[in-house]
Amino acid sequence: MTPLHNHFHSYLDGVRREGRYRIFTDLERHADRPPYATWHSGDNAREVVVWCSNDYLGMGRHPAVIDAMTETARRMGAGAGGTRNISGNSHAVVALERELADLHRKEAALAFTSGYVSNETALGTIGRLLPNCFILSDEKNHASMIAGIRASGAEKRICRHNDVAHLEALLQETEPSRPKVIAFESLYSMDGDIAPIGHICDLAAKFGALTYLDEVHAVGLYGPRGAGIAERDGVMDRVDIIEGTLAKGFGVVGGYVAADAVICDAIRSAAPSFIFTTAMPPAVAAAATQSVKHLKRSVAERIAHRLQVGKTRRGLRKAGIPMMTSQSHIIPVPVGDPILCREASTLLLESFGIYVQPINYPTVPRGTERLRITPTPFHTDQLIDGLANALSEVWDTLGLPRDTNVVPMSSVARLRPAA
Ligand SMILES: Cc1ncc(COP(=O)(O)O)c(C=O)c1O
Repeated sequence: MTPLHNHFHSYLDGVRREGRYRIFTDLERHADRPPYATWHSGDNAREVVVWCSNDYLGMGRHPAVIDAMTETARRMGAGAGGTRNISGNSHAVVALERELADLHRKEAALAFTSGYVSNETALGTIGRLLPNCFILSDEKNHASMIAGIRASGAEKRICRHNDVAHLEALLQETEPSRPKVIAFESLYSMDGDIAPIGHICDLAAKFGALTYLDEVHAVGLYGPRGAGIAERDGVMDRVDIIEGTLAKGFGVVGGYVAADAVICDAIRSAAPSFIFTTAMPPAVAAAATQSVKHLKRSVAERIAHRLQVGKTRRGLRKAGIPMMTSQSHIIPVPVGDPILCREASTLLLESFGIYVQPINYPTVPRGTERLRITPTPFHTDQLIDGLANALSEVWDTLGLPRDTNVVPMSSVARLRPAA
């Protein structure tokens, strides 16, 4: 221990005092029996039901995806062997990029080791390469987009969330000749709301801006071929750069951007975080390719998913559990207090064998702490009843208020029980 260690201790003490110390739950997911997992706690192991996975469609355990991964690992080895520049461009990654470009109907795509890295790298590079670039960023953009914008060194203005009038006002204030990028998400993962993509593209066209759209929580799940909300809304061709992940709807890991070839080529050529890092393992790329290919053709997963999400919503409403407005598959259940949120999560896990992670600051604003429930096609009607009953008991135990109406974001704090 050096005196410097005290800084780390005092930081962690502060986080604990605020009730937002993160406890990672040690889970072993069962590929053969989703959504069950074994919870390891000390020497104990217990079976639980996972209700907060971002493997929204369960593609991470799809037999064809697992086969692609294991077969490729056997054939091509466990790792990529180096950077794409130095050790040869892994054929599996090339095939994945071709598949992703086709998914989004763009000229090219570029794969990264995660969605976070793709946002940070792509936005960082685009903002740096465009001279005197001005980036308009939605106030609820993900940390990875914020990191990229910051890294670009470009001037940034924050636009009120999904507020096209505010976006237009900001665009109007900008010098017309200046290169502009509008950076936003299609589906905001903590609230479950959806951006007016077409309207934003109209403004981009009017003011000559590039559009950069994060479809991380939508790819695989929306649109006739699973390309996301822009595809669903028929505006995919109007978005300049689409960013996505292979880790959520597609159930594997990795991130990407799809865009005109010249944009992908410029990012590929200029981004140190793309050039100087080991490529994605071929087995991962092959598994992701298989998942993308499958969801392009098959709507069964999307239909089953939607059905179970609807049933979960109805089950919770019947039990009087409050839910925030959401236009998507994400069901945010407001608690409005970090300590109660953690207690609710702990009670669900320990008393009912249900795992739902508490979502606290800084992931969401203080006072809007919540449980974020993400049903999959594998959550049966019986499991949904079990969740509704368990939440009902937890709400009684903690004295949390009931509300059968959908709760707008602005009123989440109102639900907090009196101190
Ligand atoms: C909106 C958004 N973009 C990007 C990412 C990063 O994606 P990945 O988990 O693939 O790193 C996340 C992660 O949750 C996200 O919510």
